[in-house]
Amino acid sequence: MARCFVTRQLPGPALDRLGAEHEVEVWPDRLPPSYEELAARAASVEGLLTLLTERVDAPLIAGSPRLRAVSNYAVGVDNIDLDAAAARGIPVGNTPDVLTDATADLTWALLLAAARKLPEAIASVREGDWVTWEPSGFLGASVAGATLGIVGFGRIGQAVARRASGFEMTVLHTSGSPSGSGVALAEVLARSDFVSLHCPLTPATYHLIDADALARMRPTAILINTARGPIVDPAALRAALIAGEIAGAALDVTDPEPLPASDPLLTAPNLIVVPHIGSGTRAARERMADLAVDNLLAGLEGRPMPHQVRPAG
Ligand code: DGY
Repeated sequence: MARCFVTRQLPGPALDRLGAEHEVEVWPDRLPPSYEELAARAASVEGLLTLLTERVDAPLIAGSPRLRAVSNYAVGVDNIDLDAAAARGIPVGNTPDVLTDATADLTWALLLAAARKLPEAIASVREGDWVTWEPSGFLGASVAGATLGIVGFGRIGQAVARRASGFEMTVLHTSGSPSGSGVALAEVLARSDFVSLHCPLTPATYHLIDADALARMRPTAILINTARGPIVDPAALRAALIAGEIAGAALDVTDPEPLPASDPLLTAPNLIVVPHIGSGTRAARERMADLAVDNLLAGLEGRPMPHQVRPAG
């Protein structure tokens, strides 16, 4: 029996399976443990099940001599120092596939909401401003037949592209897909009516969408980000929205995260922000929990995890 620390209660019954085999402490609060609280727990456990809100860095790993497996309740693993874990032979697992459809659906919800100005239209009804049918009220962008640019053509990017066929859109995507197809980022930015981000956050993609990239987009274009906040430079995005360099943006992820209500970005026009809910269907979140537990159980037994990001080094 190993000792495990789970950094939040998870939906569904998955944690019961972990508890049946190991000694499990689950962080009970709505807010995550602080870095210090996490490090203190990690120092005495063999297994860690973390969320994207936790930083598992090299000092934390070095201070956790018994640690044998880390399972992240997310497909993104930018919160974990994979090299430091691999150097210690600690496998790291993630939760791909089970959240692909949920995240692609949310991408489309944001795209359509931004294109058709849904937040403003909904607010006008509640504010009593629906006084007549107006020929020029809330005129939005056409989605059917438009060009969708996808930056990062992995599982989620491809699922977003599949949905676009129902809208008879032209889909462009950046290179790097398994088939080797794709075009340069500059071309995706210049030709697309909607640009949707689906690449992982790495040193190479940090602020990939900066002032220069935004300037390459069409003034009628809308940016959607359901990947990771720091892929977009928030100051540059705010400036581009204020200057009308692009027509709008819809973000499920921000930098910082959570985004304080006082953040200057929220003063920009034509901006939708939702609180990182891409994978937020009950089915997806329960399947993520199952997979995260399967990964941790396998790692603790010394078996390959069902979804192991990096083989133990
Ligand atoms: C992930 O899995 O990386 C998402 O951002 C949250 O589900």
